[in-house]
Amino acid sequence: MSANWSPDSWRSKPIVQVPDYPDLAALSDVESKLATFPPLVFAGEARALRKTLAKVAAGDGFLLQGGDCAESFMEHRADNIRDFFRVFLQMAVVLTYAGGSPVVKVGRIAGQFAKPRSAPNEKKGDVELPSYRGDIINGAEFTTDARTPDPQRQIEAYRQSAATLNLLRAFATGGYADLERVHQWNMGFVKDSPQGHRYQELADRIAETMSFMQACGITSENTPQLRATPFYTSHEALLLGFEQALTRNDSTSGEWYATSGHMIWVGDRTRQPDHAHIEYCRGIRNPIGLKCGPSIEPEGLLRLIDVLNPANEAGRLTLICRFGHDKVEKHLPKLIRAVQKAGRSVVWSCDPMHGNTISAATGFKTRPFDRILKEVESFFDVHRAEGTYAGGIHVEMTGQNVTECTGGATAISEADLSDRYHTHCDPRLNADQALELAFLVAERLKQERAHRAHPLAATA
Ligand code: PEP
Ligand code: CO
Repeated sequence: MSANWSPDSWRSKPIVQVPDYPDLAALSDVESKLATFPPLVFAGEARALRKTLAKVAAGDGFLLQGGDCAESFMEHRADNIRDFFRVFLQMAVVLTYAGGSPVVKVGRIAGQFAKPRSAPNEKKGDVELPSYRGDIINGAEFTTDARTPDPQRQIEAYRQSAATLNLLRAFATGGYADLERVHQWNMGFVKDSPQGHRYQELADRIAETMSFMQACGITSENTPQLRATPFYTSHEALLLGFEQALTRNDSTSGEWYATSGHMIWVGDRTRQPDHAHIEYCRGIRNPIGLKCGPSIEPEGLLRLIDVLNPANEAGRLTLICRFGHDKVEKHLPKLIRAVQKAGRSVVWSCDPMHGNTISAATGFKTRPFDRILKEVESFFDVHRAEGTYAGGIHVEMTGQNVTECTGGATAISEADLSDRYHTHCDPRLNADQALELAFLVAERLKQERAHRAHPLAATA
């Protein structure tokens, strides 16, 4: 167990991005109550994810992590959860079949409610109010009432996370994710889109393979791997009082686990090595993600790795790189070299979203799809050049037909953004763009595998 660590040892460290709760007694009451609630996930599940990620770190498998930038209380509905899960499964099957790689499925869901902000306050005209920090903290509406942090929201976030997770578990294991339904995941608006057609062809090939296997006696009834899929949850561990309340000691191992989600990550704004967020994460045994933006230097990264993964355990740490489409080549090679030289095991994942946010002329925050693709391409190129393994992607996406990121096969323009701009925080890929990205990554995975098998042959 980590030295001098306890679930509340973060409280004596410097901290940034904390909400200003007006009533600390009410906050403390909520935290005590949450501490009596059942865990959302089990330690054994988090351990299983860590083991699977250890394989990814060794080049076997690919991490697909994605979901909303911020989940919202208002949009908590079964059909939204289903639509997300459906597209996520489509992406996963594209990566598995076309990319030929086992896929580790981790949603940004069932707990992704707290947001770091670049400014503590927001000003409109003469009125200045606290910034919106995610539904677990305050409301998005620009009123004093909504923007005042309310601890009761944590109880609602817990309730929604539990309900979402319950439905996801049912989808993942109760028949919805059965590979025999591969055609049925292609529904709604995606079905008639360019990527939907591409998916249809791939589903036809999978169905053909399945009927061949069936003829050989392998069916989803006798082969659980075809019928069900492991699905994990993740979120940014930003609101540490909430995380602490759900931190539990695992009776089988005596170790501490965050039970708010299987994997949690530390954001780019809260990863100071001597601050509270890193302190909290170092003591729990879940797989941890660390966002790495342009300001991280090799030395700082190695220090964080030392703190978060002193035993150099494979699968413990995923580095989620988010530099911007034109900055990967500048920042990533030096980080990779430092990690390689120090002999540290990590999963390298690419978040092509957060370094590519721009303001459209119309005022909407958006992300051009070609820059998102470019960041992913550069990520693979750099790993190829360094001889290391590009092990995952981390995206903000939704199953809805939103218009938040420009570009893609349906060519969303800046003028289109106002049509269906629904995000509560950052712009997300819509289902069609998410699938397009999956096809591109699948193609790269195939090339990289061929390259590893025959390094001297020209594959790209
Ligand atoms: C996020 O993932 O929504 C986020 C805020 O990312 P980052 O910490 O990388 O800016
Ligand atoms: Co975001």
